[in-house]
Amino acid sequence: MTRGRIVGTGSTTPMRVLTNKDLEKIVDTTDEWITRRTGIKERRISSDGQGENTSEMGTKASLKALDMSGISPEDLDMIVVGTVTPDCQFPSVACLVQKDLGAGKAVAFDVSAGCSGFLYALSVADNAIVTGSCRNALVVGAERLSAITNWDDRTTCVLLGDGSGAVVLTAGTEDDGILSTHLQSDGNFWNLLYTADATCKIPEILDTVEGKPFYLKMDGNRLFKKAVPCLANIAVSALEHHGLSRDDVKLMIPHQANIRIIQAVAERMLIPMDKVYTNLHKYGNTSSASIPIALDEAYREGLLEPGDYVLLVTFGAGLTWGASVVKWSI
Ligand code: COA
Repeated sequence: MTRGRIVGTGSTTPMRVLTNKDLEKIVDTTDEWITRRTGIKERRISSDGQGENTSEMGTKASLKALDMSGISPEDLDMIVVGTVTPDCQFPSVACLVQKDLGAGKAVAFDVSAGCSGFLYALSVADNAIVTGSCRNALVVGAERLSAITNWDDRTTCVLLGDGSGAVVLTAGTEDDGILSTHLQSDGNFWNLLYTADATCKIPEILDTVEGKPFYLKMDGNRLFKKAVPCLANIAVSALEHHGLSRDDVKLMIPHQANIRIIQAVAERMLIPMDKVYTNLHKYGNTSSASIPIALDEAYREGLLEPGDYVLLVTFGAGLTWGASVVKWSI
């Protein structure tokens, strides 16, 4: 059977570090509150003119992943970018990355699935490989959430950060690679997390803003309660689909939104926290970029070896959520 195998990973984050102490000067908050309620200590914030736009970070992460893979940009058949913060509404970030890489043969497009964008993108690219329409694919998560952050809203601005991560997939017939990705959505809860600009036409949103420009809005408390069971249930079903148990998992890499969500999911799944990778203390919630950044860092830290089972789990606006079971290939 043909599978998509991960043969390269890469990531990048902006230079500028914004600590919790820095945020104390911007909104009515404390390092102690943010650390206790979220686990976040600092995040990276893009600066203009520094090569830190969403597409520029996407290209940087991609170059690192391509370098590791040994696959050249000209040999890519597909580029899929998960993002909710494109440089502009169109063209897609993927097309801008394609241009910057010189990946002339690749079909390129974005996927919008909230913080689940990377796993949705991974699933699309992997399915194209499995069905034979694509041999080499680049999958990217890239976000500049600081551009849609309301810096007057202490309930959200402390959570978010910028960055990008990427993986290169290639077709293989070995028994490793992406074993499957399980995805779910529930649009009934769209209003727990949303953003809109001047083009927004959702009446319920327009009624609340009286024509003023506004940014990301979130019902953090309700999201938290939805996130934990969704993440735990889909992770367990994805493992069961392959006859695997939590003991088979070498490393779980969850979306990096909040340490309390991650701990609650691990507790439900009876997975010890030393098998759960977290780096949200450094980057906060980078939406679609969080899983590929974490995956890249985990691999480069030597935590993964060929044959290890890695469980990727995500949850985000939409609502969307999902889990991938990967048998590590590099
Ligand atoms: N600093 C200090 N106090 C803050 C604060 C901040 N940055 N943000 C909120 N508060 C206050 C609130 O105003 C509230 O005060 P009140 O009791 O006087 O009204 C109090 O802290 C508790 O707020 P609450 O929203 O109940 O806190 P919480 O424990 O739910 O934590 C989140 C808030 C946002 C950290 C938490 O709900 C969360 O992480 N939710 C999920 C968010 C998420 O992951 N979103 C992305 C999904 S992809």
